[in-house]
Amino acid sequence: MNLVQIYTQEDIEKRVNELATQIDYDYFSKENFVIVGVLKGSFIFMADLSRAIHLPHTIDFISIESYGMSGDAQGEVRLLLDTKQNIAGKNVLLVEDIVDSGNTIRYIMQILNTRGAKSIKVCTLLKREGADDGGVVNYCGFVVPLDKWLVGYGLDYKEEHRTLPNICYIKNLEE
Ligand code: IMP
Ligand code: MG
Repeated sequence: MNLVQIYTQEDIEKRVNELATQIDYDYFSKENFVIVGVLKGSFIFMADLSRAIHLPHTIDFISIESYGMSGDAQGEVRLLLDTKQNIAGKNVLLVEDIVDSGNTIRYIMQILNTRGAKSIKVCTLLKREGADDGGVVNYCGFVVPLDKWLVGYGLDYKEEHRTLPNICYIKNLEE
């Protein structure tokens, strides 16, 4: 198995700063701004994005477990870790590592909706080119190929490679 870099540390840093600038602009007049990271894949992106956003905000995390393969219509999800804060009345920005089918993020959005969030937007580091994610993404770092498994900058393959500073795809995954 070998790793092929698609985004350098510098590419990522530049894009994270661009996203933060856009988010600062869009949330300027909003109060009760909370950024909720979807664990574990978003932890490094969250750390950088939340520090690049200048507006006052609080931080929280949520974690869910997916059954079935990503993109599988049968794929079910279950809440593993809930936010610590009460989300009612908050302007929530959900932060994900990658959106594929959108199942994971839609499940989380439903939960936060029933809790009375004032608004919910989604910022993902990566999304799949041409994937039917239901249009849930508001902010996206990079659009990546459908058929590549990405690792690094928080993303894993069987819990490995999360701490790579850059983003790579795995070549010859089946071999
Ligand atoms: P979705 O629910 O189909 O949108 O899948 C999104 C979830 O699948 C993400 O939160 C990731 O945890 C995982 N995932 C999908 N593709 C990749 C990948 O290429 N690398 C690492 N994780 C991935
Ligand atoms: Mg994830």
